[in-house]
Amino acid sequence: MHRLRQNEDNDVTADGGRTAELKLPALADAVVLPWDSAISKSKHVYGFDSLDPRSRPFNMMRAKLHELRHERRWRLFGVVSATPKVGKSFITANLAASLSRDPQFETTAVDLDLRLASLTTLFGIDPKVGIRAYLENRPSAQVPTAYALAGERLTIWPTVAGAVRSAELLANSRAEAMLQAMRASPANRLFMIDLPPVFANDDAATVLKRLDAYLVVAEEGRTTQRELRDVIDLLGSDQLAGVVLNKYRGGLVSEGYGVDHYYAAGYGTTEPGDDLR
Ligand SMILES: Nc1ncnc2c1ncn2[C@@H]1O[C@H](COP(=O)(O)OP(=O)(O)O)[C@@H](O)[C@H]1O
Ligand SMILES: [Mg+2]
Repeated sequence: MHRLRQNEDNDVTADGGRTAELKLPALADAVVLPWDSAISKSKHVYGFDSLDPRSRPFNMMRAKLHELRHERRWRLFGVVSATPKVGKSFITANLAASLSRDPQFETTAVDLDLRLASLTTLFGIDPKVGIRAYLENRPSAQVPTAYALAGERLTIWPTVAGAVRSAELLANSRAEAMLQAMRASPANRLFMIDLPPVFANDDAATVLKRLDAYLVVAEEGRTTQRELRDVIDLLGSDQLAGVVLNKYRGGLVSEGYGVDHYYAAGYGTTEPGDDLR
């Protein structure tokens, strides 16, 4: 068990890692925003609509994540990429959307890509208390504000993008309290966490130690086999849930914008690069 330092605000106890009363906002606490199918499609969020063929790869990934949840008790999934602009947030949002369709579970999309945060723009959110404000311990920022979309069951904890010392913020005691509260949440709560690109800084690696697993997003024609291998070397294969190949031309949805994926089963035994053909 991880021992925590007591911080100035006493929001984290030093008693072996238990957090003091951080109640994470759930779907019932969320501020509901306007949303409908047309907005969703215009934002490239297909995962809510199982009739849309573009939701299929996400529903298949969802099934795999449920297998991993069942077999390994994994619930806290980080999404990483080697570099920006390969579709990491697109995959996070669509997979979270797909997961949220199952009423047995409560799914939260969390934006911890503090500098390049984009769930705000994607879902049209101007956060009252974003994750960054919570981490910076600003006045009246005791918990991040949760958002939901009209007619959907997805909870979103967004953050406002900006030049911040994200590695330090994500290593502080408030981040620790938040991640511990996520872990202590009911077993039917699932978290899809948009993490910073791995080679930007050490933020992703820092947060990942507190999560169960990660998915790596690679973009065909942009992410190299070397980059993908370096990400997995850095983060380790024990927590690797899978590799998502975005904009894969031969992919499951082929309008030039397909998505394909490879999963943890037996993954550690193959060379990641071999799969990126
Ligand atoms: N497979 C895809 N189909 C449609 N749009 C996509 C796809 N992948 C990425 N995009 C779009 O490309 C842009 C960059 O993707 P984004 O997820 O923000 O990248 P990252 O989070 O890796 O920086 C976004 O506008 C996103 O909607
Ligand atoms: Mg992003």
